Amino acid sequence: MAGEKKLDEWGTRFGVILAVAGSAVGLGNFLRFPGQAAQNGGGAFISPYFCALIFLGIPIGWAEWTMGRYGGRKGFRSAPAIMGIFGRGSAARYVGSIGVLIPVAVSFYYTFVETWCLGYCWHFLTGGIGVNPQAAIAEQTGASRAFFAESTGFGADGALFRLHNLETLLFFMIVFSINISLVYRGISKGIEKFCSWAMPSMAVCALIVLIRVLTLGTPDPAHPDQNVVNGLGYMWNPNFSALGNFRTWLAAAGQVFFTLSVGFGVIINYASYLRKKDDIALSGLTASATNEVFEVGFGGMITLTAAFIFLGVTGTTEAVSTGNFGLGFQTLPVVFAHMGSLGNLVGAVWFFMLFLAAITSSLSMYQPALAFSQEALGLSRKPATAAMAGLCIVGSFGVMWFSKGGVFLDTIDFWVGSFLIFVMAALQIIFFSWIFGIERGRKEAHNGALIRIPDVMWFVMRYVAPPYLIVVFIGFCVQNMKSSAQLIAASTAAKLALGLIALTTAALLAGVRIGEKRWRAAGLDIDDKIPLD
Ligand code: PHE
Repeated sequence: MAGEKKLDEWGTRFGVILAVAGSAVGLGNFLRFPGQAAQNGGGAFISPYFCALIFLGIPIGWAEWTMGRYGGRKGFRSAPAIMGIFGRGSAARYVGSIGVLIPVAVSFYYTFVETWCLGYCWHFLTGGIGVNPQAAIAEQTGASRAFFAESTGFGADGALFRLHNLETLLFFMIVFSINISLVYRGISKGIEKFCSWAMPSMAVCALIVLIRVLTLGTPDPAHPDQNVVNGLGYMWNPNFSALGNFRTWLAAAGQVFFTLSVGFGVIINYASYLRKKDDIALSGLTASATNEVFEVGFGGMITLTAAFIFLGVTGTTEAVSTGNFGLGFQTLPVVFAHMGSLGNLVGAVWFFMLFLAAITSSLSMYQPALAFSQEALGLSRKPATAAMAGLCIVGSFGVMWFSKGGVFLDTIDFWVGSFLIFVMAALQIIFFSWIFGIERGRKEAHNGALIRIPDVMWFVMRYVAPPYLIVVFIGFCVQNMKSSAQLIAASTAAKLALGLIALTTAALLAGVRIGEKRWRAAGLDIDDKIPLD
């Protein structure tokens, strides 16, 4: 038992910060952020972004850290059990299962994208992906697109399962095994240990690529306007009229949640492995600040600057319109091909960095489900890992089989990775600041705290964040529901994706039911409800 307990604790004070920062820094920082900013007002995007960061992301993040550590002290690790404490009762436990559903369902497709990163890294190490920089630009883009379609199966369902094209599946198995073996090893020996070298390595790789991009100068004398300064300007020149558009505010809030891993049920789980006197105030802030360095610094300066220098305004704007994946996996390979003899190496470093960033994030998607199957089903580590891995492999195979046009993936991303995050974040902040109570919350958060959370933040948690979130959520529904409903009606892949989400939800709800019986039988007073202190 002692050995088991050791597995379930952070080894050092930095461990948890690195792991939460590892969860936060991911594909969202390098691919999603520049795409969202460019589509929503460029430099002007930064104002709604920072509003969402200060009024939603950071305060709700602090609430999540506090709830997690508190729940951990009562012996719980997963969102359903912990939300049950804060929401006082059974209903809260059932809705709390969203905090396991989100990370696990996002992992279904996130690990698939992680697989592309590994595959691309491999190809750049071994000679590139076949883009000829001497050819006409349309031909280069065509080659890059063809490679992307081939390795992601975007052309046809089942394409990745044909005998001549099993490479992606092979890379997936490698990626999946790494993830599962790391979470199996436990909090300090698996997740913390991995993050403690992956995070600094990621920073070094990002710095290498950034320096390369910032020293590109004006590579094409025929196009003197395509230089570094204008490249940086492409993303950062503000278009203030976008601020009048509600869409911009929605996009900013969605990006903040996604990038900080707030509202997913991830931080609640990671923080449950802390001890009562471990700091959470400064740790929460440090993890968020680290994420912002990677997001605004690296994410905001690499992708679009590089694209602009080689492709100019038209090419970059077209790349942005192909979406976040298009930018990263179709446009950047063309850019690397133009970088001369070192291009392949820069490409390999870039995709290796994305791969590391993605792993430290996907670990945090598997861990909540593992913790949940242990505590709800009473399973020991091995069968719990097997149960979690079984569910995830079914989900990821679903995403990989129904690969055509990415509809299946997009459907999960929309309903789980956007819609449900708003729901979960709202539940968290309402349970924390209204049901548990802000005074108790403040006292709890400051146990062992190395900084004081400013008084105004408690006001924000109670009176600003909930209405802000509700307005954003309603706006999100009004703006997207019609087209989403039409897509579901028209597409079998979208229906199947929703079916998969429904089945996963059913499994989790059954888990909560079993868990409640076990917790009662174990004498935990979950009905009234765990005494608060
Ligand atoms: N924050 C991660 C990113 O920016 C995504 C993520 C989502 C991580 C959910 C963990 C849980 O890519």
